[in-house]
Amino acid sequence: MLQERITLLEDARIILGVTGSIAAYKAVDLASKLTQAGAQVDVIMTAAAQRFVTPLSFEAVTGRPVFTDMWQTASPDLPTHIAHIGLGEGADLLVIAPATAQTVARLAAGLADDLLAVTALAARCPLLVAPAMDGGMYAHPATRANLDTLRNRGAIVIEPEAGHLASGHMGTGRLPETPTLLGHIRRAMGRHGILAGRRVVVTAGGTREPLDPVRYLSNHSSGKQGYALAQAALDAGAETVLISTVSALPAPIGAVFVPVNTAEEMLEAVQAHCASADILIMAAAVADFRPARVAPHKIKKAASPKRESTLELLRNPDILMAVKEGRERTGWPRVVVGFAAETESLLENARAKLEEKGLDLIIANDITSPQAGFGADTNRVVILDRESEQQRPPLASKARVSEIILERAAAALRG
Ligand code: C5P
Repeated sequence: MLQERITLLEDARIILGVTGSIAAYKAVDLASKLTQAGAQVDVIMTAAAQRFVTPLSFEAVTGRPVFTDMWQTASPDLPTHIAHIGLGEGADLLVIAPATAQTVARLAAGLADDLLAVTALAARCPLLVAPAMDGGMYAHPATRANLDTLRNRGAIVIEPEAGHLASGHMGTGRLPETPTLLGHIRRAMGRHGILAGRRVVVTAGGTREPLDPVRYLSNHSSGKQGYALAQAALDAGAETVLISTVSALPAPIGAVFVPVNTAEEMLEAVQAHCASADILIMAAAVADFRPARVAPHKIKKAASPKRESTLELLRNPDILMAVKEGRERTGWPRVVVGFAAETESLLENARAKLEEKGLDLIIANDITSPQAGFGADTNRVVILDRESEQQRPPLASKARVSEIILERAAAALRG
């Protein structure tokens, strides 16, 4: 799949500092994905970084000149021609990935001995540092103290991962992969978004209602729309809780992830997290019924010799109805958004649910429409509110649809 543009990163000016670690090759991919997402990426390489990858690699993926020399003049589109001032001025973020022990020490000491160090001193934007080094070097008290110094000054340190290191040893010191780095970058960029300081709870996926230890009843929900909503909430600066039945998708970086299986578990998790939530978005496809009994052992064919067999079902709790009751008592969550996945009479059914479940917004989703609904990467929805206003965004990625839903929910919160 093509890397899609990320609204939060469109036209963002990101300085990517690359230092002399074998992980420098991963920074080429990061620079490429940031550029594809819509950011303007200016790369600064230290002398040691150039022993691992060449400036040409970064120039090729960013389409911009790469900076390697303190005495070089900056490109004409930067705020000033003095490179270390021009690069830092007006930048939205300075990311140093990978950051060696040496660079971490130079930053902590405030040295100004190359273009990257000088730019870090001159820049006024947030600093994100992703250390990558051998496990012993990372664990050394000197490196620890230097990273603490950077954190205390407000820098965000992305923890390296554990695993195989270039030395052949196992240890903690690996640069995380691009999606993880991108997740941290999004978190840093979204911190002043429209939902900064707000709490958003999102549910995702189809609930799984067990029948016996190997089988369950569920539905076709992929969880993609719920995950996209959680990412959009994070991009908007919200503290985000994702309550999910899905384990195949990576949880968005920064979200509190709460895994659940059944409707009853989801109800419990929603109630636990909604007590102080500003916005609840119930994107999950909750099973209306569950097997009346869960067999302790795998059900055998031989147990039902007839061709037909009957499964007794029990009604599941309606989570949104329980939330409505709680909200009438406490006033929380402030804004509740539901989904209506329908195969017929879309708007009438959606409007009835909005009323019955006491929602502020309902997202009506015709799951029979092509390129929309279960499993698709795009969605076509109609957003209905209490005033019977209809908003019909065009067919768009689930990411874009999520941004529109979050904008509407944020407006409802303000109103
Ligand atoms: O009634 P229906 O299942 O069509 O309503 C859909 C909306 O209600 C969705 O937002 C879904 O997450 C929520 N729901 C719920 N508890 C249920 C069933 C659905 O909260 N038991």
